[in-house]
Amino acid sequence: MASAIAICLVVISFITVPLSADFVTVECQSSTGHSGQPSKLDCVVKPQNDLKILKVFWKKDGQQVLTFDGSINPENERFQFADTNWRTSKVISLLVKDTKVSDEGIYSCTVATTRGITKGYARLDVKAKYSQPEMTSKDITEDRVDLTCVASGGYPSGAIHWFDRLGTNWTRSTETTETQEEDKSFQLQSTFLSADPSHAPYRCVVFNSEWKAEGEETMPDPLPNKEALKADSKHIMAGAVVIGSLIVGLLVALLIFRRRSQRPEQECFDYDYVSHDPEDGTVLNPPPPYQEVDQNPVVLDSPQDSSADKKLNASFGVAHG
Ligand SMILES: *[C@@H]1O[C@H](CO)[C@@H](O)[C@H](O)[C@H]1NC(C)=O
Repeated sequence: MASAIAICLVVISFITVPLSADFVTVECQSSTGHSGQPSKLDCVVKPQNDLKILKVFWKKDGQQVLTFDGSINPENERFQFADTNWRTSKVISLLVKDTKVSDEGIYSCTVATTRGITKGYARLDVKAKYSQPEMTSKDITEDRVDLTCVASGGYPSGAIHWFDRLGTNWTRSTETTETQEEDKSFQLQSTFLSADPSHAPYRCVVFNSEWKAEGEETMPDPLPNKEALKADSKHIMAGAVVIGSLIVGLLVALLIFRRRSQRPEQECFDYDYVSHDPEDGTVLNPPPPYQEVDQNPVVLDSPQDSSADKKLNASFGVAHG
C-alpha cells in the first residue's frame, strides 16, 4: 500500500515536472510614452523555441487594439507589432505609432500557442508637455493689474507659479484651476488679481507633474507695468521738452523783436549821450579843419585884427599905390 502511494507520488511528480516545463508564459514590461511620439510595450512569449503562436489579442479596457488570428487584424492603424519578425522571435511587443494621452492605461496581451494559452499585462504611462503659457492682463491701473496665465495640453496635471521682477514667489496670492480636456490632457488657468505693477514684469511658470519648469511667460505687450508708466512719462517728458523749446523759442523771438523795435530810440539816446560826453565829443567830433580858418574871422573881429586889417589895407594901398 505504501509502495503504491510512493509510486503514485513519483508518477504525479513525473507528470508535473514536464507540465511546468511545458508551461507557456508571456513576460511584459510597463513603459512611459510621450505624446505625439511612438511608444512600445515590450512583451515576449516564453519559451521562445519549440512552440508556435496561433493567436494574439492586444486589448485595452476590454477593447481590442491589435489582433492576430491567422492574419493581422488592424482595428486601429496606430497599433502594430513592434517586431516585424515577431512570429519567429516570439517578441510580440506592441508599438503605438502616435501616442495620445488617452492611450494611457493597462494593456493585456492574450497569446494562444501550440503549448497553451497565456496572458500578460503591461501599463503604458503617457506624458504630454504643456503648451507655452499665454499671459493676458486687464483692469490695468497705476497701482493694480489682473493677470491670467493659461497653458494647455499637459499631462499629468501640473502647476503654474508666479514670480515678480525680483524672483519673489507670488503663487500664494494666485488661484489656478484645472480642467481636463476630452483627450484627458489638462488645461491650467491661473489668475493673479490685483498684482502690484511696481513689481512688474511678472512671470508665470508652468511646472509639469515632476515639478520641472516646462515654459514661462512674462508680461505681455503693451506692458501694464512701471516700464509702461515710464514710457508714458517719457512721452510726457518729450512733450514737455517740445513745448518748453517752443516757449523758449517764442521768448527769444519776442526778445529779438523787442530789441529791434527799441533800437532806434536807444541809438538816439546813445548818440545824444555820446555827443554830450566831452571825451566822446572830442573823439566823435574832431575839430574840423575849417575851425582854424574860422579863427581868422575871430582874430579879425578882435580889436587887434582891425589894426592888422589896417596894416593889410595899408600894404594893399602900398601895393596899389
Ligand atoms: C512658490 O510658492 C508655492 C506656494 O507657496 C510653492 O508651492 C512653490 O514651491 C514655490 N516655488 C518656488 C520655486 O519656490
